[in-house]
Amino acid sequence: MQIRPISPLFGAEIVEVDLSGKLDDATFTAIEAAYSKYSVLLFRDQKMTDEQHVDFSRRLGELEVHVLREFSKPQHPEVYVLSNIVENGKPIGIKDAGSYWHTDLSYTKSPSRGSILYAIEVPHAADGTPLGDTEFASTAAAYDSLSEEMKTKLQSLKAVHRFWDRYINSRKAAGSEVVISDERRAGLPDVIQPVIRTHSVTGRKSIYVNEGFTVSIVGMSDSESRALLEELYAHCTQAKFRYRHKWRVGDVVMWDNCTTVHRLNVDFALPQRRLMQRTTLVGSEVQ
Ligand code: SIN
Repeated sequence: MQIRPISPLFGAEIVEVDLSGKLDDATFTAIEAAYSKYSVLLFRDQKMTDEQHVDFSRRLGELEVHVLREFSKPQHPEVYVLSNIVENGKPIGIKDAGSYWHTDLSYTKSPSRGSILYAIEVPHAADGTPLGDTEFASTAAAYDSLSEEMKTKLQSLKAVHRFWDRYINSRKAAGSEVVISDERRAGLPDVIQPVIRTHSVTGRKSIYVNEGFTVSIVGMSDSESRALLEELYAHCTQAKFRYRHKWRVGDVVMWDNCTTVHRLNVDFALPQRRLMQRTTLVGSEVQ
């Protein structure tokens, strides 16, 4: 197995590993170490069944079943389908799982540790250029580059994270109204997370607010909170902290939801088909 960095600050390609088989302990341990070190790992040319996707993911930890169960595979509810394909009048997956900068499940008390996304169909432009890239930004590198004064200021702050507003607004923007029952809403109440979090394995600190799901900073006026959040989003997503992934069929990309944010570029539409599937690792309470 070889490890090749894919961008200057984070991200690496793991070469010569077949995720569909049972990995020996040494290889698996090396992958886990690379995951902690690089935050984003790429495996090219994979061919996995749903079961193999789940088996590899489960070896890393317990798996989430996404709150939007309608997009999970009935036989494998841990597999969440991301797609713009419609079959028999019904979407086979969620069309846009995040075209805004976000980190998965930050709106839950114990947000996901990481996500493992597998590309099955990738849209292309007429000239063959792949579309639907996913961009990542290192919120750990962004933290490291803050001034000491800013680090101290942010350390004691907390922020509110919320899911439903974002989901309803994205659906509205895509032209479809959704009504969420009070019961469903109550099942996923607002959560409060520290603005600076510490990685449970490496101890590395990162900035933990995101455009997708953070709604305010606790104890600040609306305008003060908005201004600080906008400043932090802009800081975290500067070009120097980013890696943009151009997908190929068979790519598996796994990322760390503590040290990165990501977003999908929606620059494609049917008949350009995109089909991806994701497993999502359970995490622990944010420290
Ligand atoms: C995600 O936000 O989990 C997926 C991003 C993508 O569809 O590329």
